[in-house]
Amino acid sequence: MNIAIIGTGYVGLVSGVCYAKLGHRVVCVDKDPEKIAVLNSGGIPIYEPGLKEMAAESRLAGHLVFTTDLAFAVRRSDIIMLAVGTPPLPSGEANLAYIDQAAIEIAEAMNGYKIVVVKSTVPVGTNERLAKLMRSRTIMRFDSVSLPEFLREGSAVEDTLRPDRIIVGAECEGAAEQMIRLHEPLTEQIIVTDIRSAEMIKYASNAFLATKISFINEIANICEKVGADVTKVAEGMGYDKRIGPSFLKAGIGYGGSCFPKDTRALIQIAGHVDYEFKLLRSVVEVNQDQRFNVIRKLEAIFGSELPGKTIGVWGLAFKPNTDDVRDSPALEIIRHLVDRGVKAKAYDPIALPNFRAIFGKEGVEWCNKAEEAAQGADALILLTEWDEFAGVDLARLQRVLKQPILIDGRNMFKEEHLAGTDFAYYSVGRPSLSKGVKERMPVLQF
Ligand code: UDX
Repeated sequence: MNIAIIGTGYVGLVSGVCYAKLGHRVVCVDKDPEKIAVLNSGGIPIYEPGLKEMAAESRLAGHLVFTTDLAFAVRRSDIIMLAVGTPPLPSGEANLAYIDQAAIEIAEAMNGYKIVVVKSTVPVGTNERLAKLMRSRTIMRFDSVSLPEFLREGSAVEDTLRPDRIIVGAECEGAAEQMIRLHEPLTEQIIVTDIRSAEMIKYASNAFLATKISFINEIANICEKVGADVTKVAEGMGYDKRIGPSFLKAGIGYGGSCFPKDTRALIQIAGHVDYEFKLLRSVVEVNQDQRFNVIRKLEAIFGSELPGKTIGVWGLAFKPNTDDVRDSPALEIIRHLVDRGVKAKAYDPIALPNFRAIFGKEGVEWCNKAEEAAQGADALILLTEWDEFAGVDLARLQRVLKQPILIDGRNMFKEEHLAGTDFAYYSVGRPSLSKGVKERMPVLQF
């Protein structure tokens, strides 16, 4: 099939490469000529395992083309996919200006029947509104489909080619059938529904996953006070099939380009129909507060001496295996520390340039190695659970720190990592695993 994908952000690019892999002829369009130039020279502007190689293969086979020419892409395609960004407005609502503009341009370029598919995350009713907008600009026939995206950064290719489910929201049977053809051989996972329900499934899924995270984070906070271990609690809960083991990792809260944006947008969507989504409001509030979990620990350790201390920071990306720092908890945590007069030394295996570009404050020493960030620091905080950190020799690390204090915001380390060290080690919702430092560093009560 001939497909045009408008927008080469995360969703657009991964989808384009994966549809080409499934054997379709794909043209990816972006307004940004620099991005298109990078893609046309074999580069990939995002860090996503496996994507570059797969894109190269399809380009070589002539299945994948990148261009800034939207009209050309629309005319040569039967299926047009919208994958432009819907970033949040200050109110939390999704900004639909880009998608509206793209829909108008598509309508004006259409030269025959098309299926117009919305992959971007959009509020319920947007597909219908876009269809009206397009009908006011073209006499050509088209059908609308909502095809929400559920890919996770870092495993986007795997998620797209081996999805749990593919949701197709379509009013027209013919368009739904074309979507089934498009996804062959993944047809077993397809669920066809109406357009509004498909739009809602995306928001509801992300809101539910965010709820699981905030739930376990609150359980972790209680575990800290009652002396239980949240990792054991989560494991015990997860054996119940109705609960499931995933998304129950306590830490410093969720970040990234989806959960923070989509939870806020769903609260707004509900508000527009006079419904207050109380549970989701609390989920967002808990997530916000959880970012301060590590700061509260630093305060408990250093008290009024915290300003002036040097704190090493490991991990800046919102999660491992990505260079994405959008809404990363590390942004807020380090900004807060710097504002309090702390000197931060930060390291991340790949996200440092992106982080630095948007951090916007002085007071951080950017480090090229994990050990460098710990060198001479009064304490070390771990904010992203990169594999690299699990492999660090903690006995050696202890010698470079001024004081052996480690605050693990992601519960990465286990007792065996700390064996033979003198660390005062604190994590989230687990009893302190510190050995031999109890006299100097009492078990903290937060
Ligand atoms: C998410 C959804 O998983 C995906 O289906 C949707 O399409 C886009 O949003 P992504 O943002 O790539 O994907 O990351 P994900 O792996 O879901 O993690 C999101 C955040 O939650 C990260 O900050 C992660 O650290 C945090 N998280 C995740 C937890 O704190 N605990 C967990 O148990 C799981």
